[in-house]
Amino acid sequence: SSNPSDKYDNLKAVKTPMLPPDTYKGKKVFVTGGGTGLGKAMTRMLSQLGAEVAIVSRSPDVLKSTSEEISAETGNPVHPIPANIRDPDAVKSSVDQFVEICGGLPDVVINNAAANFISPSERLSPNAWKTIVDVVLNGTMYTTLEIGKRLVEQQKGANFLTISTTYAALGSPFVTPSAAAKSGLENVTRSLAVEWGRHGMRFNCIAPGGIYTKGAFSRLDPTGQFQDKLTESTPTGRMGDQEEIANLACYLCSDYASWFNGEIFMFDGGQTLQASGMFSGYLELSKDQWDLAESLIRGTKGS
Ligand code: HXC
Repeated sequence: SSNPSDKYDNLKAVKTPMLPPDTYKGKKVFVTGGGTGLGKAMTRMLSQLGAEVAIVSRSPDVLKSTSEEISAETGNPVHPIPANIRDPDAVKSSVDQFVEICGGLPDVVINNAAANFISPSERLSPNAWKTIVDVVLNGTMYTTLEIGKRLVEQQKGANFLTISTTYAALGSPFVTPSAAAKSGLENVTRSLAVEWGRHGMRFNCIAPGGIYTKGAFSRLDPTGQFQDKLTESTPTGRMGDQEEIANLACYLCSDYASWFNGEIFMFDGGQTLQASGMFSGYLELSKDQWDLAESLIRGTKGS
């Protein structure tokens, strides 16, 4: 096979938790968008490691079935807290419920909930723009402010993680609202890392590349062709795996990572760098073509 991850074992995904069992025993975690996709994968691993997790999203039914499924698997409590993070009053009430159910503020907050779809920007209505920015940037800030203010007040520390995306760094066509909102979140991460470090809070981001979830790929890859392009443009030749980001998230939100603060972790198998490298097209060249190129280059005299 020409796919490096089929050939080299060190490029394959390891799906089991890397942290010791009970790393999260006694820890309370607040995960937005925890009912599905990456949020669910992170919730599952945190729960496997002993955490008490509350998952927060718009859909009560999804939350209920996910919490029952994971709790039955791990034997640890997973609490469904329905709330639309676009609504600051709903966020406030979700934090009130969290405190009541878990007996205190969270030790870990994972800002994972997002919204996105591909669309030529000339097709975006003001409300389309507002919908994405309201979930991604405003909803994450309502959550962060609601919990952060209470943490400052109570002099309690906590570890925050926000899920960004690789194109937050330089932007991308066809996802302007998401690109704008996610880059905003990366600057929030760096700003609060400094401002609230003295209050015992750490803030980091993971900027994942292509990791298949129905929620994202039904809206970003409606025909399925984009996934092949992503795989081809990734040096290690595959998309990411949900358990891999869960392992990284569990590490960054644990006390083993207590000196990581204000960092944005690109997590994409090198796909972004390959796509941006000026000479990445030369990865296609055969040995014969390189022999020819070398002889032409060496044969050049003067300038
Ligand atoms: C143009 C669109 C549109 C489309 C919706 N709108 N879809 N415009 N093209 N394909 C417009 C609507 O017409 C409306 O504007 C406005 O957007 C709001 O749409 P609603 O359907 O009323 O909103 P809502 O029901 O709240 O749904 C929100 C949503 C939906 C974002 C549109 O997709 C959703 O709920 N997504 C949640 C999950 C998700 O998106 N996950 C992906 C995360 S991926 P008007 O003017 O008509 O009222 C990610 C990172 C990328 O974050 C990872 C890279 C691999």
